[in-house]
Amino acid sequence: MIHLSIKIKNTVMKKKLLLVCCILFALLANAQKYKGLAMTPPMGWNSWNTFQTNISEDLVKQTADLMVSNGMKAAGYTYIVLDDGWMAMERDSISGDLIPDPKKFPHGMKVVVEYVHSKGLKFGLYNCAGTKTCAGYPGTRGYEYQDARFYASLNIDYLKFDWCSSDGLNAKESYTTMSKALQTAKRPIIFSLCEWGNNKPWAWAKEVGQLWRTTGDIANIFDGIKTFDTWHANGVMTIVDMQDSLRKYAGPDHWNDPDMLEVGNGMTVAEDRTHFSMWCMLSAPLMTGNDIRKMTSAAKATLTDKDIIAIDQDAAGIQAFKYADKDSVQTWLKPLQNGDWAICFLNRSSTTKAIQHDWKSNTVYDSLSAKEFNAVKNMYKLKDLWAKMETGNTEKIFQTVLPPHDVVMLRLSK
Ligand code: GLA
Repeated sequence: MIHLSIKIKNTVMKKKLLLVCCILFALLANAQKYKGLAMTPPMGWNSWNTFQTNISEDLVKQTADLMVSNGMKAAGYTYIVLDDGWMAMERDSISGDLIPDPKKFPHGMKVVVEYVHSKGLKFGLYNCAGTKTCAGYPGTRGYEYQDARFYASLNIDYLKFDWCSSDGLNAKESYTTMSKALQTAKRPIIFSLCEWGNNKPWAWAKEVGQLWRTTGDIANIFDGIKTFDTWHANGVMTIVDMQDSLRKYAGPDHWNDPDMLEVGNGMTVAEDRTHFSMWCMLSAPLMTGNDIRKMTSAAKATLTDKDIIAIDQDAAGIQAFKYADKDSVQTWLKPLQNGDWAICFLNRSSTTKAIQHDWKSNTVYDSLSAKEFNAVKNMYKLKDLWAKMETGNTEKIFQTVLPPHDVVMLRLSK
């Protein structure tokens, strides 16, 4: 009898153990991205918008040095990411490993990564889910685990993963495979999906990576489309128009990415300010894309404005929404932590606009975040973030003049 009851107990325990093992296995099998790497939108510099494939060890070192000395690092810019063009045209014929271009990176890539790390910054690389990158270098298709091990061996911190030469591939499967490969390689690497929003990554990529592109490439124009031979790129406002419906998908550790910044790349100072303001309202990753060795003081001031960056980096991680759109002036609102709000009045037209906003008759309830702005119940102080001025409170109607293509951005605090 005693013997029998022990046997039964053992069988029950065995079943329980089996169940626990199954659950653990299922959890591990589903474990994909490293958690907690991007609780606020990543900030850094990426080579593509200015340099395309003309990159080098010297460029990285100069950029790293400047990011430390010009205040960018202190403002929060952390990642230096080499986009397309860092590789040789072929993999190693014996090992199959990727090879950094020996002309551009004569001492290999590890030295470059170590240099960037020695400055207290982090380092990222680019590849593609398809068989070739967009510029024709070796893609990762079929080499996911090998490439992930290679990146881990270099100690990189960020991987941007593109979608060229991907005919016949399923985006969710391809990006999930790479995400799992990165997990398996056991190095916490931010995984930045770049399939241009073609396969609605916002609907499935939360567990796969920390950010996903929502559109095709950005262009250094304020509005409209820039057409090239076989493709086109989107102006800043064109991209803004594609973001409003996506806000519910973004949050800490999983961000909508409306593409890298074009600040300092040819738009006017006002347009650069507007571009940067809107990216911060949208909780966008802030990857600068200019040549910071030749940056004007105006571009530097825009990119390092602490008050504006604080809106982007707000810990609540709630993307703004469009509250009003009238006569080419849009009003965007972003709930912040501690009950604060950011508001951005955006003049999309090429004429000056006078605006007035009565806080008390514009009570707002954001059902997504369950945050309320109510100037009847509460009084908020106003700070004009670009002008660096306290501008009264919500007892009075707010009036201002908006120059063409410019913004006024306020922080409202109880
Ligand atoms: C695609 C991406 C860009 C850049 C280039 C590199 O177009 O969307 O951001 O990475 O490829 O070839």
